Amino acid sequence: MSENGCQNLKRRDFLGKAGLGAFIAAIFASVGGMLSLAFPRAFPEPSRRYKIGFPGEYRVGEVITPKSRNVFIFRKAEGFYAISAICTHLGCIVKPDGAGFICPCHGSIFDERGAVKAGPAPTPLKWYAMEYAPDGQLVVDEASSVDSGTFFTV
Ligand code: FES
Repeated sequence: MSENGCQNLKRRDFLGKAGLGAFIAAIFASVGGMLSLAFPRAFPEPSRRYKIGFPGEYRVGEVITPKSRNVFIFRKAEGFYAISAICTHLGCIVKPDGAGFICPCHGSIFDERGAVKAGPAPTPLKWYAMEYAPDGQLVVDEASSVDSGTFFTV
């Protein structure tokens, strides 16, 4: 075999091995892609129904916002109520302001029961349903609203 023929054989040998390597890499990449489907990277949303502690942990007149929740829990002599902190205009988070709430985005003002005192918010803040968990803790259910003025009595 000539010198030139020997180089051709090595080149063919090299190209064959490179092609086989690329094929195996493609197989691994596609299997890896399929396996990654079994482990989604999205984190589930927190439940819209959650415990906020025992009634005895609250003092009458107290207002709290559970950590990482957009809700205000009021403890009154009549009972509890939970109001959404999400403005009914465009969804900004309202802030406590005096005895009520103000929306930092466009200035809507709500009283402490969530009624609109000044627009542009078109409707009052939502009142969420509350109930007891089997262990006696209070539960707020953001998926279920109640009429404004509906206290959860203890
Ligand atoms: Fe609250 Fe516009 S989003 S007033």
